[in-house]
Amino acid sequence: MDSHPLGIGIIGAGQIIKRHALAYRSLPDLARLVAVAEIDPKRAEEAKKRYRFQRTYTNYADLLACKDIDAVSICTPAASHAAIVIDAIRAGKHVLCEKPMATTLADADRIIAAAQDHPKSAVSCVFQLRNDPTHQRMRWMIEQGYIGKVLFAKVCVRLRKSRGYYQSAPGRGSYKSDGGGVVINQAIHQIDALLSLLGEPVAVSAVMDTFVHPIEAEDTLVGWIRFAGGAIATVECSTCAKRKEFSIDIVGEHAGMRVSGDPDSQRFDWRVDVAGSAAKRALRSAGLRRFPDPRDPKPWTVVAEKLLAAITRRDRLPPSDRGHAPLIREFLESARAGQPGPIPPQEARRSLELTMALYESARTQRVVDLPLDPCCGLYDGVDGESKTASKKEVQSVAS
Ligand SMILES: NC(=O)c1ccc[n+]([C@@H]2O[C@H](COP(=O)([O-])OP(=O)(O)OC[C@H]3O[C@@H](n4cnc5c(N)ncnc54)[C@H](O)[C@@H]3O)[C@@H](O)[C@H]2O)c1
Repeated sequence: MDSHPLGIGIIGAGQIIKRHALAYRSLPDLARLVAVAEIDPKRAEEAKKRYRFQRTYTNYADLLACKDIDAVSICTPAASHAAIVIDAIRAGKHVLCEKPMATTLADADRIIAAAQDHPKSAVSCVFQLRNDPTHQRMRWMIEQGYIGKVLFAKVCVRLRKSRGYYQSAPGRGSYKSDGGGVVINQAIHQIDALLSLLGEPVAVSAVMDTFVHPIEAEDTLVGWIRFAGGAIATVECSTCAKRKEFSIDIVGEHAGMRVSGDPDSQRFDWRVDVAGSAAKRALRSAGLRRFPDPRDPKPWTVVAEKLLAAITRRDRLPPSDRGHAPLIREFLESARAGQPGPIPPQEARRSLELTMALYESARTQRVVDLPLDPCCGLYDGVDGESKTASKKEVQSVAS
């Protein structure tokens, strides 16, 4: 195993670069920042100065040609991910790509094929909730069987996005650049978390609309999902809410669990409600003792923040930038060990497929079965025309 810090390039220097650059810098034994590629030269220079890169490029191909760069983070708008990920894999780099990995299933499948052709490259998507201790604990509780069979779940992503947010970069909320609206851009984190908790989805139904924002795609979607294990989940997501709420509720035979909080500040609470004393005993003896919380008098509540410091093993990052660090550590460790990335392309495809199924259902006003057929209308992505057509279809169904 190579023990030198890996040379890092970052492609795209907009909002999210900060979390990547600071996470790499907090892991000096594993990584050193080398270069940034950004089509806007002024932004490239600003990023170089702020995060202390050695060099800048305006064409990412020049960065990929650098021999002293071993791994790249891709932080460009979603629709550009597939081409850049594939070029980076073919250039022999380890690749960490921001969510969503791609905006179409066709592109996701191209990435999967490229990764399979280059097994020495560690390839991963970013879904930082997977490394959040509260979400990990939910998964562990289900896997250990402590809550019994999962019956139903509720995912809630309520956001209040401003007009300024949608104007801050060209193409926000458009199919061409973002691949859709609130589901693919914001709620995909919680959808990915739900999939990691409940397994394979088999059918979905949804309705969506663009209520408030001057964007092409949906700002609100409500739907349900049936899972192969029998559980049902509801999903509601919107960027029109007055009050922020991010939560996942799970109801099982023996216990209920809820994780809620704010991904931007990396603060989540995790709660378990148990009715039977047998379930309580099992949790106490096997589960909660692993993470004792002397400051919290409520035995079934854990605040995640203090666990994060232990997981990142360094406490140098401000709370709002800690979310990416554990995942980036895992990515670098897999790259050094010659293993696949922590969230490989096949895994990242799952939330994209579920997103596309929700869009397909809302578009066609039908229940959609999964896995999606490669011949389905959305395999190559949603475009503006089909969205307009769907509105007409909905209107004709309504009249
Ligand atoms: N994981 C998270 O919590 C999280 C949060 C925010 C954004 N994101 C994701 O990160 C990605 C970027 O989002 P953002 O908010 O930083 O976007 P942004 O628009 O602020 O920044 C994107 C940058 O990429 C640059 N760019 C575009 N094409 C390029 C190319 N070919 N080569 C080099 N640079 C190029 C743009 O000029 C821009 O500076 C998106 O996929 C988004 O969904 C993830």
